[in-house]
Amino acid sequence: MSTPDLEARSLVKRFGAYTAVDTLSFSVARGSFFSILGPSGCGKTTLLRMIAGFIAPDEGDILIGGNSMADVAPNRRPVNMVFQQLALFPMMSVGENVAFGLARRGVARAERVKKSAEMLERVGLGGAGHKAVDELSGGQRQRVAIARSLVLEPTLLLLDEPLGALDLKLREHMKIELKQLQAAFGTTFVYITHDQSEALVLSDHVGVMNKGRFEQLGTPQELYYSPATPFVAGFVGSNNKIAGRAKSVQGGIVELESAEGWSIHAQAHGAIAAGAAVEAFVRPEVASLGRTSSELPAGHPQYAATVESLLFDGANSAVLVREQKSRFEFRIALPQTGRFADLKVGEALQFGFDPARAVCFPVAGSPSA
Ligand SMILES: Nc1ncnc2c1ncn2[C@@H]1O[C@H](COP(=O)(O)OP(=O)(O)OP(=O)(O)O)[C@@H](O)[C@H]1O
Ligand SMILES: [Mg+2]
Repeated sequence: MSTPDLEARSLVKRFGAYTAVDTLSFSVARGSFFSILGPSGCGKTTLLRMIAGFIAPDEGDILIGGNSMADVAPNRRPVNMVFQQLALFPMMSVGENVAFGLARRGVARAERVKKSAEMLERVGLGGAGHKAVDELSGGQRQRVAIARSLVLEPTLLLLDEPLGALDLKLREHMKIELKQLQAAFGTTFVYITHDQSEALVLSDHVGVMNKGRFEQLGTPQELYYSPATPFVAGFVGSNNKIAGRAKSVQGGIVELESAEGWSIHAQAHGAIAAGAAVEAFVRPEVASLGRTSSELPAGHPQYAATVESLLFDGANSAVLVREQKSRFEFRIALPQTGRFADLKVGEALQFGFDPARAVCFPVAGSPSA
């Protein structure tokens, strides 16, 4: 295996008594798109700032291209950072912005102009070099910020929520552009976001961060289909969460009973004994819907429900149903056949799901877990 571009070894960063990054170890393969996904305050920016060298870890080490960065100043590290607030220089032209880092490195003017023009070409802004920054759209400015970093040919490009300031439509568009840029340049990207859909779409690997640690590190598919912890199941993609007690465990399938008396079956993840406090997660697209029992796949438990509300969102439309007995509100993705296009609020339905595709975790700290 080749040397990873980035390796973190037992990194710790404390602010007073508070541990912002807690004994974190991971590595990022050369040329890959790696995302760090987590809620606000979990330590993402702190981690990135340690990689860039703006702050020093209290413990542990960072290796870039196999070399320890312990005594290497930020401007000597083979990394560049793109911030949420782009900080382009408004008094410089677009081309001068891109050439800025080269000038600081002492690259001759003719070479700077050439490289800056080439880079603008590659990010789809060929010929825009003479423009003023405020003549560009938000998305174009974002591309200039990335061009300004990539022109320095860093080993690692660190991006801290670079799409956060853009409106939704532009963000969707830039998401695709970023992925294409990364593939074209082959530079290793370390990308921070709290938006799970960005992380899933863009990344080869994602570290899901919570309270200074990674709860899981895996491919987007692994996180989505095999979440390792309840936090990951709840944070990545949409999920129905049902809490209760394990009534029985048989052949790896838990029968969970909620406080409201709803019994469901789900695949056990981890050691679960009868009586333990548990929580199960069922994806909206795992459940099927029928107007009668016979419309549902045979062999799985079925539940009676009424339609609570319709959530129309084109191909991502869903329905919220209320399970009859427990009044539990459950989200089900609507099939794209249009078979349920005429559903009405209050309508009676049946639904069910394959227990093997639902996951059940013991609740941490519960006495019998
Ligand atoms: N310089 C500092 N001094 C003291 N506490 C800090 C400092 N920098 C960050 N923290 C704290 O460390 C924790 C992690 O902060 P960090 O900025 O890394 O979070 P984040 O995951 O980037 O969040 P967001 O998504 O909101 O940007 C927070 O509780 C924050 O208040
Ligand atoms: Mg941050």
